[in-house]
Amino acid sequence: MEGDVSLQLPAGQPAPAEAARAKHDAVRDDFAEAVLSGLARKERSIPCRFFYDAVGSELFEEITKLDEYYPTRAETQLLETHRGEIAGLVGAGRVLIEFGSGSSRKTSLLVGALGEVPVYIPIDIAAESLKEAATWLSEQHEGLTILPLIADFTKTRSLPRAAQRRRKLGFFSGSTIGNLGHAEAEAFLANAARLLGKGSAFLIGVDLKKPVSILIPAYNDRRGVTAAFNLNLLVRINRELDGDFDLSCFAHDAVYNERQGRIEMYLVSLAEQTVRVQGRAFAFAEGERIHTENSHKYTVAEFQALARVSGWRPVKAWTDPDQLFSLHLLRL
Ligand code: AVJ
Repeated sequence: MEGDVSLQLPAGQPAPAEAARAKHDAVRDDFAEAVLSGLARKERSIPCRFFYDAVGSELFEEITKLDEYYPTRAETQLLETHRGEIAGLVGAGRVLIEFGSGSSRKTSLLVGALGEVPVYIPIDIAAESLKEAATWLSEQHEGLTILPLIADFTKTRSLPRAAQRRRKLGFFSGSTIGNLGHAEAEAFLANAARLLGKGSAFLIGVDLKKPVSILIPAYNDRRGVTAAFNLNLLVRINRELDGDFDLSCFAHDAVYNERQGRIEMYLVSLAEQTVRVQGRAFAFAEGERIHTENSHKYTVAEFQALARVSGWRPVKAWTDPDQLFSLHLLRL
């Protein structure tokens, strides 16, 4: 028997097809607004959540398999090694809420270890990969009830009925929290505390600070998959916002900002050029950059301090022998 998979849409929206179209339009408006205002700024930037269209999501999946990109492998290894202990500390019978669930591959390990999970609620803005992931997971775990929520997990303020009045376990993997600045991460953790409620637990994967000799190749791989992932943002602008970016005139760059403790990704203009998006012109000097992503790195102590400020109590942190990645268990 397969689990129950139904997409949850905000209340008050009529037919599913209509609701899906409205959602699609809203996403496009949001993208247009973000790109036009981001390109008009003196320090140009576009939020990294727009990387994940269908092609971008696939390119990210490819990144996770690269030799140089250690986070996915290191985190999966940590989950495999410590899932028994994690399950013991967390206890059975909790509703599982996943933030930015993506492909849900790591979730399967967790669900398997926890044994009894009454309901699994993955929250993600990428509707297509959310549906695919829910279907895949329901095939892995017979009888698991899945209630996917298409939403921006940083803005989620309430959970479906099925999650209420039950103890919850939050799961936020892949160091996606690194995309947020420190103040934003604090706000996210505080909101998650409100959302999950007293008695809840939260399992979070966080990338560790480490030498740049390991960090830089992870974000600038030899095969150029990360470059393609970054440049795909311009492909998406060309397609969805009537842009005319010449892909051969921009290059991927990744640098480590030591002071901020983060990887920064940029698209660098290789020439003096003018680009149009939805009829608006943007002049680039040679070497001028568009900031496309931050990926913050934390020591175990730094992340635990951040969690405490947000109202969480660190219970345990696991790291791998090479000190590449950390897995934090927090309680409320
Ligand atoms: C999905 C945000 C965790 O920051 O490592 C991978 C995204 N960007 N390579 C990360 C990403 C470039 C990734 N996160």
